[in-house]
Amino acid sequence: MRIYREKDYYSVSRRAANIISAYVIAKPDAVLGLATGSTPIGTYKQLVEWYEKGDIDFSETKTVNLDEYCGLTAENVNSYHYFMKDNLFSHINIDMENTHVPDGSADDIEKECTRYDKLIDSLGGQDLQLLGLGHNGHIGFNEPSDSFPTGTHKVKLTENTIEANSRLFDNIDEVPRYAITMGVRNILTARHILLVVSGADKADALRKTLYGPVTPQVPASILQLHPHVTVVADEAALPEEK
Ligand code: F6R
Repeated sequence: MRIYREKDYYSVSRRAANIISAYVIAKPDAVLGLATGSTPIGTYKQLVEWYEKGDIDFSETKTVNLDEYCGLTAENVNSYHYFMKDNLFSHINIDMENTHVPDGSADDIEKECTRYDKLIDSLGGQDLQLLGLGHNGHIGFNEPSDSFPTGTHKVKLTENTIEANSRLFDNIDEVPRYAITMGVRNILTARHILLVVSGADKADALRKTLYGPVTPQVPASILQLHPHVTVVADEAALPEEK
């Protein structure tokens, strides 16, 4: 595991964007696993900037997103489909046919989960999977539990996550209670995992992720077992050990 400790969120975003762009440049048809949330916004902004300068070409890139809320259509401003278009896809030359986000509005969620697992397999798995970290150690929407969930599945969000995500909704009652998420197996299938973390409020979750026991109570701790993980965190999230 390689850990980059950066000064601040801006440096975290540049470092993460650098790593992602290296993939896109070296392997134009790379499969990128992408995340939503506040943390990767700076990374996406940097990628857009480099695209606009003509330094990166996304025309062959393929993407698979980690998760989506149940019950929200792609047009809903709070959906992760919308987030990805708003923060990245509509600003770069990616072919939208090559972008994939679970369909949270599907009538049959079980069927949608199976379809998504097959889709990831058919793409040959992710070359690089970008991850953010939840305050409770979740990755994707794999919340603390008694076992590591495997493939794509439906989850009931914890109160902790609903509250954290409510900042993006008009009020907390509008936050969906369920989501579809890649499971831990789907995440670990990635050949390289890039975990991006910023802010003192994530320090405890990051410490447990990196140095605590591997346990489904801290889902991200499973990353300790993956052979190729890069962590990019700022000083606030990764304070120096005293
Ligand atoms: C988002 C996702 C989540 C977030 C996590 C951190 O697709 O899968 O696991 O990465 O909740 O969110 P932020 O970055 O908003 O703190």
